[in-house]
Amino acid sequence: MDTFKALLLEQPDGLLQASIKQLPLSALPAGEVLVAIAYASLNYKDGLALTGKGKIARHYPLIPGVDFAGTVKESQVATFKPGDQVILTGWGVGERHWGGFAQLARVKAEWLLPLPKGLSLQQAMGFGSAGFTAMQCVLALEEHGLTPGEREVVVTGAAGGVGSCAVALLAQRGYNVVASTGRPSTHPYLRELGAKAFLAREVLASQKRPLESERWAGAVDTVGGTTLAGLLSTMTHGSSIAVCGLAGGSGLETTVFPFILRGVNLLGIDSVMCPFPRRQIIWERLAQDFPLELLAKMTQIAPLESLLGLAKTIVDGQIQGRIIVDVNAEG
Ligand SMILES: NC(=O)c1ccc[n+]([C@@H]2O[C@H](COP(=O)([O-])OP(=O)(O)OC[C@H]3O[C@@H](n4cnc5c(N)ncnc54)[C@H](OP(=O)(O)O)[C@@H]3O)[C@@H](O)[C@H]2O)c1
Repeated sequence: MDTFKALLLEQPDGLLQASIKQLPLSALPAGEVLVAIAYASLNYKDGLALTGKGKIARHYPLIPGVDFAGTVKESQVATFKPGDQVILTGWGVGERHWGGFAQLARVKAEWLLPLPKGLSLQQAMGFGSAGFTAMQCVLALEEHGLTPGEREVVVTGAAGGVGSCAVALLAQRGYNVVASTGRPSTHPYLRELGAKAFLAREVLASQKRPLESERWAGAVDTVGGTTLAGLLSTMTHGSSIAVCGLAGGSGLETTVFPFILRGVNLLGIDSVMCPFPRRQIIWERLAQDFPLELLAKMTQIAPLESLLGLAKTIVDGQIQGRIIVDVNAEG
């Protein structure tokens, strides 16, 4: 393959342009391992990069796509050899470094993980950064004392990518999951993933007092803003919120009362720079704990060509579950 297909972001004259291009192999950045990509996935951050709504791309031209799964074609290191199946999430790929929305990527060896046992390349990108982050959230909550029981655990932005994975993971582990969503049409889907009850998006976002009645034993928050403020005021004593997203806003107006009167913990979750040994644990847990028949229910497959339209859809909060990108499909 002398050339490869990629979705390229450019900014001639300050205007963002995204187009599918055939690029020469020599255009790829330096790196130890050349990977033939099979699948990438569409994450919220990619939506921001492709629409220009968030400052994700650190330079242009850039191939976006914060994760991918594929097969090693060439390697300059002993740890990977041609034919190995590998995955990558984060590390600034698709932001600083050319990413997954292409048929080839050249990256640092230390960013790659062997494909977790029990998963196909396609399933690995069914999870992608979103599933990885959801698992990080669940682990963090459990490490801070959350155990399955009667009390409810809420997931905000529940019908999105991280949200769907978090709902299914928590339900599988025996938690009483409440899905907070702005889309009542997704209730049957979320029920299939394991949600026991639903909360309209506005309920959390409209809590006004610093402390309201205690309700949640734990929370995964993908929304931020007024939703996170509302969560803080309704957490039970000593409980924790795993905070990973800003789909509803990056600001946070709150008081110290939930922290000093109820001992509530805010657990920050960052998937991008998550250390390597922790990544291995997270992927092993995903491969072991996540019911793959549910993963199939929450994923759709799309070609590179459809990404520009889908980017707007994800930023508008209208994707249900996860989009796997088949970079070799004809668009
Ligand atoms: N910290 C990390 O390392 C990390 C990793 C991955 C993702 N993230 C972040 O997590 C968030 C979710 O990512 P994703 O890939 O799951 O995106 P997604 O698929 O678009 O899901 C976001 C969900 O949030 C809800 N939502 C959207 N706009 C909203 C608004 N204005 N107000 C309230 N709720 C809104 C929607 O769910 P409902 O329709 O169900 O309400 C939407 O489906 C993003 O902010 C992303 O940047 C962070």
